[in-house]
Amino acid sequence: MCGIVAYIGHRDAFDIIVKGLKRLEYRGYDSAGVALMNGDLRVYKSQGKVSDLEAISEGKDRSGSTGMGHTRWATHGAPNNENAHPHVSQSGDISIIHNGIIENYATLKEGLIQRGHNFSSDTDTEVLVHLVEDIMDHSKLSFADAVRSALKQVIGAYAIVILSKNHPEHLIAARKGSPLVIGIGDGRGEYFFASDATPIVEYTKKVIYLKDGEIAIVENQEMIIKTIENVVQTPYIQELEMNLEQLEKGGYPHFMLKEIYEQPKSIFDSYRGRFDSATGEFHMRSIEEFGAKLKDIKRLILVGCGTSWHAGLVAEYLFEDFARLPVEVEYASEFRYRNPVLYSDDLVLAISQSGETADTLAAMDLAKRKSATVFGVCNVVGSSIPRLSDAGAYTHAGPEIGVASTKAFTSQVTVLTLLALGIAKLRGAMSIDKIAGVMQELEQIPEKIEKALSLNDEIVKLSEKYKDSRNFLYLGRGYNFPVALEGALKLKEISYIHAEGYPAAEMKHGPIALIDENMPVVVVATNSEHYEKVVSNIQEVKARKGVVIALVSEGNRMLDGLVDHVLEVPETIEPLSPLVNTIPLQLLSYHIAVMRDCNVDQPRNLAKSVTVE
Ligand code: G6P
Repeated sequence: MCGIVAYIGHRDAFDIIVKGLKRLEYRGYDSAGVALMNGDLRVYKSQGKVSDLEAISEGKDRSGSTGMGHTRWATHGAPNNENAHPHVSQSGDISIIHNGIIENYATLKEGLIQRGHNFSSDTDTEVLVHLVEDIMDHSKLSFADAVRSALKQVIGAYAIVILSKNHPEHLIAARKGSPLVIGIGDGRGEYFFASDATPIVEYTKKVIYLKDGEIAIVENQEMIIKTIENVVQTPYIQELEMNLEQLEKGGYPHFMLKEIYEQPKSIFDSYRGRFDSATGEFHMRSIEEFGAKLKDIKRLILVGCGTSWHAGLVAEYLFEDFARLPVEVEYASEFRYRNPVLYSDDLVLAISQSGETADTLAAMDLAKRKSATVFGVCNVVGSSIPRLSDAGAYTHAGPEIGVASTKAFTSQVTVLTLLALGIAKLRGAMSIDKIAGVMQELEQIPEKIEKALSLNDEIVKLSEKYKDSRNFLYLGRGYNFPVALEGALKLKEISYIHAEGYPAAEMKHGPIALIDENMPVVVVATNSEHYEKVVSNIQEVKARKGVVIALVSEGNRMLDGLVDHVLEVPETIEPLSPLVNTIPLQLLSYHIAVMRDCNVDQPRNLAKSVTVE
């Protein structure tokens, strides 16, 4: 949420910043701006996309080898030119970009207004840059110390970069609660700053993930990292695993489609090397090092948001079936504000693609304070959630750029399957043979997904037919109830068609009232314990003239006369069926959105990484 890119070095900053902002545009895309230093400090900003910023700055002076840029997802203040970042101080000499929320901005602003400051935007961010200048005007503090002093007065979350016209050799960045990565350039005082590593990877693989409460000060080509309290830190320099190819569309028209098609590989990468079929051992740090603890946990609480919460719902079935463990699944945003009853023998497992979701982080924090063990299942290496976890597992799905999550979901389900099996083994809830059986079937999943992807042409035809529907209903039972929720979420996120996911049997308690001949109902009716029951639910829909698109197991022709459309997917064991059944639903939402001319990779009002609550 809000993307930050900054550069100090010897190359042309504008090009690096704009290219980087485009990579970060998934974080927010309602306005963009840049500040460049070359003797003076020039700020260009515009409502709209990074391409609009390029257009408005065309023909203007874009020189300078120090600069910073921002792509915004509005929280305080409407998305317009005035509220776009960078913001400048009263004199115009200091400039800031910010991701996060300054919660006490109103109080700070009031004090500044009394001291003669005028504000030109409605943002919380502008207050911070005025505060820095105010401190400099009324003290003898250096630029860096003034920034530290201002940050000490701030309540809230931030990742910031600050430049000052009067300190051209400086660049200051800090973080608390919002991510910031620093790339170390070629040794000639070159540094890259960004909300995540994607804008940096093409220049350097050496990065530092700034920690909460740290400030990075570049001065005269040297960088020093301190705490806000002025204690010098020795940063840990990490090697990035990501490569540039992963960040490109690779011939696909959209990242979302590329990511849907990557799933055979991303799922493989999620389980690869983590189970030894010869010995029956799991090679996962969380299982190996926390074995004793996991054996004795009494309850598992899964927390997450959006699609990650749906992965948690699938995992509820997995952990109950495999590990015979009581499970609760919670929206992180609700959990964090309740007063949950937690014990030290509870395991709280946070699920997140980005590793930066503010509500999920807060839920983990609460669980830690209440002495539960906290694990994370996360995709982005080095992000905040794995750092806050006692242990956990990366999903290894590779960068996911499309705002609507696809491959991250199936990788989360894969890793959660491994954890459920690993814990089942520790607790003696499943025999080694049974575990090996599930693992053997898991190894078939990439191939089955390839087959499910070959439904694409059929799905294009279906999309053509139903793209103008105003509502969709998605139904599933058991393991496939979360699949129905996820199918509906994908459709509404990117095509703006209202869609609801429901447990098939629950339909008669409400949604059935909506069914008529204009209502497409997508029913997951693959082979399972509940197959017959799902067929009864289909009958209920058909009796009300609903249009049924049924997902069935390959070879099942029994619904041919009853439903309007059948999509045959490869059969697998029920616990793994969400991995396969999700694929056609992703494709359906994708094609419908494309046909409706929607911006598939950057749907309106959404952001990929939600770093505000
Ligand atoms: C946003 C994204 C969703 C994602 C959710 C949780 O809403 O648009 O795709 O599922 O955040 O994000 P996380 O990174 O924690 O999985």
